[in-house]
Amino acid sequence: MQPLTFVKLSDSSACLTFILCSLVLFGDHGGALVTLPQNVIVPAVIAFGDSVVDQGVNNNLKTLVKANFFPYGMDFVPQKSTGRFSNNRTPADMIAEELGIKDLLPAYPDVSHDDKELVTGVSFASGGSGYDPETPKIVDVLSMNDQLTNFKEYIEKLKAIVGEERTKFILANSLIMVVAGSDDLTNTYFAVGIRKLHYDIHSYTNLIVSSASNFTQDIYNLGARRIAVFGAPPLGCLPSQRTLRGGEFRACAKEHNEAAQLYNKKLQQGIEHLNRYHAGSKIVYIDIYKPLLDIIQNPPQYGLEVVDKGCCGTGNIEVAVLCNQYLTTCDDPSKHLFWDSFHLTDKGYSMLINQVVGKYVHEFF
Ligand SMILES: *[C@@H]1O[C@H](CO)[C@@H](O)[C@H](O)[C@H]1NC(C)=O
Repeated sequence: MQPLTFVKLSDSSACLTFILCSLVLFGDHGGALVTLPQNVIVPAVIAFGDSVVDQGVNNNLKTLVKANFFPYGMDFVPQKSTGRFSNNRTPADMIAEELGIKDLLPAYPDVSHDDKELVTGVSFASGGSGYDPETPKIVDVLSMNDQLTNFKEYIEKLKAIVGEERTKFILANSLIMVVAGSDDLTNTYFAVGIRKLHYDIHSYTNLIVSSASNFTQDIYNLGARRIAVFGAPPLGCLPSQRTLRGGEFRACAKEHNEAAQLYNKKLQQGIEHLNRYHAGSKIVYIDIYKPLLDIIQNPPQYGLEVVDKGCCGTGNIEVAVLCNQYLTTCDDPSKHLFWDSFHLTDKGYSMLINQVVGKYVHEFF
């Protein structure tokens, strides 16, 4: 596992003794030290969205968008195909770990009867989902509305476990991650094209930004206050999109990258608007486009050798059921940015999240 930037816990209950705190602060954590202000408590991490933070929700669904078979999870300790779309962990795990909450963020269905896990957070995210209600329908996965329904059920469970007041505290102080939009653009808009009859890229990005704003407002209305809304990555540089639209030399697909940038610009404005008009909230747009593009354009600086192919199979197209036990994998996933043709390796996600946490942590706390 790659060492991550470690966030110092100022919560006195987490720092039981000086020795324990010293171990945390000066232990082998590699990256820079980010300090949370005094008395800041982050009780839980809660995630919504797509495969980037699907922690195994799709294992229970009848869909082809799954990752609960080898080689997914080949570097998980102990080796296990958990349903995470990675060779090991996802950004949801990494953020929960960096905030000192727990090493792994579980999928809600897996822990729906585990009080201890519920109070420290879960993920509702479903691989293949998106803000456009048509997106999850294409691959039979949970819509953002389904995820909201499960979130409401979760809130009732929390109330039964810790009471009304503490539930309110958990919802308001936890970090809520919302990661979606990529499948709307790559699948629903570009690949399947079912929206192209009635929308161009300008009106389609308006639709998904409107839906993203509505979802964010919905979770705010349910009590969430620290909300991180992730933008889209440089979609044209995903190995699958290079293969499909990048021409003979598999360059980054220009149209897809431009669509991601257009969407990100509108999403950022929408999120900043929400933040301004919702008192007491920290609703923050998280840019992953620039840091990821920088990694793709400067791989040696990041200790990477391959940034245009996944580690699974040929690396050109394999994802979900197409990345399976019958294929070979690359020798060393930690030299690859991408694990499959759509998702990052554990190493790739670590580097990205490391940068994101360093840049944005102070906006939440
Ligand atoms: C968002 O909410 C507004 C107000 O309820 C509604 O008019 C609009 O259609 C919603 N947008 C989407 C994409 O669902």
